[in-house]
Amino acid sequence: MRTSSIPSLHSARRRWAAAPAAAARPEVRWPQRIADSRAARDIAARRRVRRTVTWREGMRCEVDGRELLNFCSNDYLGLSQHAQVIAALRDGCVEGVGSTASALVCGHHALHATLEREVADWLQAPAALLFGSGFTANLAVLQALLQGGDTCVQDRLNHASLIDAAKLSGATLRRYPHGDADGAARQLATHEGDGLALIATDGVFSMDGDVAPLRELATLARTHDPLLYVDDAHGVGVLGPDGRGSVADAGLSTQDVPLQLATLGKALGTYGALVAGEADLVGHLAETARGHVYSTALPPALAAASIAAVRIARTANDRRATLHALIQRFRDGANEHGLDVLPSTTPIQAVMAFDDRIALRMSQVLEDAGFWVSAIRPPTVPEGRARLRVTLTALHTESEVDALVDALARARDAAGVTPLSA
Ligand SMILES: Cc1ncc(COP(=O)(O)O)c(C=O)c1O
Repeated sequence: MRTSSIPSLHSARRRWAAAPAAAARPEVRWPQRIADSRAARDIAARRRVRRTVTWREGMRCEVDGRELLNFCSNDYLGLSQHAQVIAALRDGCVEGVGSTASALVCGHHALHATLEREVADWLQAPAALLFGSGFTANLAVLQALLQGGDTCVQDRLNHASLIDAAKLSGATLRRYPHGDADGAARQLATHEGDGLALIATDGVFSMDGDVAPLRELATLARTHDPLLYVDDAHGVGVLGPDGRGSVADAGLSTQDVPLQLATLGKALGTYGALVAGEADLVGHLAETARGHVYSTALPPALAAASIAAVRIARTANDRRATLHALIQRFRDGANEHGLDVLPSTTPIQAVMAFDDRIALRMSQVLEDAGFWVSAIRPPTVPEGRARLRVTLTALHTESEVDALVDALARARDAAGVTPLSA
């Protein structure tokens, strides 16, 4: 594949080639691999670009010098800017910033312990364990629980961290069609030998916004004995009684779902994640989960901010009511305009473009109109399933949602896509 249009790689190649160790090699192959990979992304319209936010207030922000209305953050309750959360962070760092070590060495602060206790209490689980992020938690949990000879059964659209976690664990990974509990049962039936089985599913699917068939999966787990692990990164704070998430919303408890993941970086507006569930399982993870044992504990101030966020989220029924009314308003408007939106009752609303270039074009037209909605393309979603991932928050207003729907319809028309109703 041609690389001559990528000058930075050429200069890197010259530098590497000049080094004595590299000179002995027939060809400097790393730059080639990177250039090929980048060129392949270019050809497929799959370059990924980070945008720089220079300012934000509510859902308004400045991105690369331009003011936009943000419809792609996961700050579903708007807590990332809540005055009490900010004050707790500030007050929490008067003793210092870093936790200075992993939890098992000397990094476990009383604020971490309080956060674990309060999240366990909120989710009505006997115990909870804090991790640096949801991604780390998923890797750590599945690695700590699974081993060679075990089977890990997963929804095909699970988050990347769950898929990677199963691969790292040494267990056999078996994926079932999206949302298909019967498919999960069929995959489970392939499990043989003395190993154990675990079913892992997103509670709310991060790119589609729909909810997993948790009751059916719980029934399967009751009758066939696999451990059920629910990653509720996008459900906690948003769904269920007191925002306890998709597990509680399905009327399930720790007896049905012995372990679940709650992330702090989405509806809670801070950073980090907790795994909540049966005391023995959580205790086992506290001693063996590598992402917990071998990683510096979160700054205590972040735990303080998260405690404040959890306390607000538990009682934020007004914010949840606003959010769910906006979700319904968005869906009604999208329906009227013939937009192709996947079924979802959550803040994640996927407006389908299917084609990568159409998704990019629509995103650009929206940005020109003052709306920030990122285009999601493979490999984040399956081939031919590119989309605009709209996310709604309690801080949006009705008129902003209406304006977004109008702009989406215009973007769809500009991209030459036929409306559904036509
Ligand atoms: C379903 C799901 N699980 C886990 C994660 C990772 O969580 P974190 O962002 O805290 O690493 C994400 C993040 O996007 C997610 O969508």
